[in-house]
Amino acid sequence: MCGIVGYIGGKRAVDFLLDGLTKLEYRGYDSAGIAANCGENIFIEKSVGRLDSLKEKLKNRLPAGTVGIGHTRWATHGRPSDLNAHPHTDCHGNFVVVHNGIIENYMPLKEELIARGHKFISETDTEVVAHLLEEVYTGDFVGAVREVLNKIEGSYSLVFMSKMHPDVLLCAKQENPLVVGLGKGENFIASDIPAIIAHTRDTFILNDGEIAIVKKDSVQILNRQGGLVDKKIFHVSWNAEAAEKGGYEHFMLKEINEQPKAVRDTMSKRIAKDGASIILDELNWDKNFLNSINKIYIVACGTAYHAGLVGKFYIEKLVRKLVEVDLASEYRYRDPIVDDKTLVIVISQSGETLDTLAALKESKRLGAKTLAITNVVGSSMAREAENVIHTWAGPEIAVASTKAYTTQLILMFMLALYMAQVAETISGDEIKRLISLLKKIPAQISETLSDVEPIKTFARQYGFNEDVFYIGRSLDYCVALEGALKLKEISYIHAEAYASGELKHGTLALIVEGVPVIALATQKSVYDKTLSNIKEVKARDAIVIGIAAANDIELEKYLDHVIFVPETDELLIPLLTVVPLQLLAYYAAITRGCDVDKPRNLAKSVTVE
Ligand code: F6R
Repeated sequence: MCGIVGYIGGKRAVDFLLDGLTKLEYRGYDSAGIAANCGENIFIEKSVGRLDSLKEKLKNRLPAGTVGIGHTRWATHGRPSDLNAHPHTDCHGNFVVVHNGIIENYMPLKEELIARGHKFISETDTEVVAHLLEEVYTGDFVGAVREVLNKIEGSYSLVFMSKMHPDVLLCAKQENPLVVGLGKGENFIASDIPAIIAHTRDTFILNDGEIAIVKKDSVQILNRQGGLVDKKIFHVSWNAEAAEKGGYEHFMLKEINEQPKAVRDTMSKRIAKDGASIILDELNWDKNFLNSINKIYIVACGTAYHAGLVGKFYIEKLVRKLVEVDLASEYRYRDPIVDDKTLVIVISQSGETLDTLAALKESKRLGAKTLAITNVVGSSMAREAENVIHTWAGPEIAVASTKAYTTQLILMFMLALYMAQVAETISGDEIKRLISLLKKIPAQISETLSDVEPIKTFARQYGFNEDVFYIGRSLDYCVALEGALKLKEISYIHAEAYASGELKHGTLALIVEGVPVIALATQKSVYDKTLSNIKEVKARDAIVIGIAAANDIELEKYLDHVIFVPETDELLIPLLTVVPLQLLAYYAAITRGCDVDKPRNLAKSVTVE
């Protein structure tokens, strides 16, 4: 996500701030800004675009202040712009704030603040924090910050600076990382260790609910209740490159492990407080609109296309509308039958993939209603489509897509539920039941991630095979396609996914002794059929690894290895079954010594045909 830095000491703060932000550039961002306390006033400069644009604006006018904060923003609420870039201030410029994360209840707070006369200049959720601080402040900076934290909901790492308290920076953490670097006569704050390791390796890693009071010569940590915490110093032994990856060996592994948070961020603000409905403020669809749509296309490439295949199941099952899923590179050239009664949904992590963008433009030309699901605010697709819903996965750096895929599935599920709610195609009770299961998914992904040893063992055992098959029916087949793609792209093993029922129409000829087959068997509606297919490959002496739901007592009777994922509705289980497949691909690539984050011949954003 975004990057945060802070400095308090005897040197010119801006030098550390710009250097620290440069060290965080790898995370991706769309705008940047700094603030420095210069006594009479707080100097602020911000710029959309790269850090170089900010540096250009600061040329010959670097502020002299020795206390400052800085930020690189990855847009969530509001497009990338100078005004939306951080830091943000209250009405009088007395309080300055930088923030990573999402303030879920910012809208009602903002409305109340506006009603009480506050003037907002940005579209961000962050700005409410500065105005709230202004409201509650009566002279006690720490007390005011604690009061503000009690009013906001969501995830955050926040750093606060005040004109009235030039000798201190305050910071708070909830679900987003924040570290305080300990220097001599100076201290540092950062959202990630790479920003500070050139200056110090002694740090306090903040826990959720903690507040740090950072002065030039001291750092105090308070817990949620305001009590002093006796914090142990964490000495960073990683080198700069490892620090960028948060201690993980590769960005891909880091991003796989970020999925619980990415999924929670993407869903949480969009579920009503009573858990009875989905809120998609981005769409203003009513029953008449949905009735007027007689065809839905989902168009995407690669992993996003696989998310679209799952989306088709969701919409057809919950909304009972026909959905066609198409590869963007095919759709755009085959004269699709599209008119003003067609809804075209494009899915894209980057929002820039050329084929998908062209398909979107072509759909608009043909008169279709368009919706983009993308991870990048302000991307070409976000600007081009009539409606946009963002995944809030944060920047994805590894070429192989992982957290973007799971957040796309979450949004496709929520979109289908929203449509079902508007069109009244399923009951309120069923919506409630599905939402309650949806809310458990982040914790269930964490649970799935906690059991990697068997997967590492399989990867070591079978990582040198030249062919691997993935089989499954229904949604298991969609996930099998994604699992096979992951393995192909990063380990260069030839992997194919087949709908299990298709095996006997040709592929079974390739199943011989010792060939690894990954069999997904989670879809209750086709379970018996799946089991028969598994027996078919087992009878040909394939090595079959099953992926099953935790309550499955049957599969283990037939297979040597089964990986279990927690139990949930069969519609939601792809969010769990894909995780061991991502890990299997990762560890197979490691076994083969491949360059996991930058596989050969591939690029992260495909902006050419
Ligand atoms: C695979 C992968 C690609 C992308 C595809 C579309 O791991 O990352 O298949 O999914 O290139 O990219 P976006 O989603 O940016 O349109």
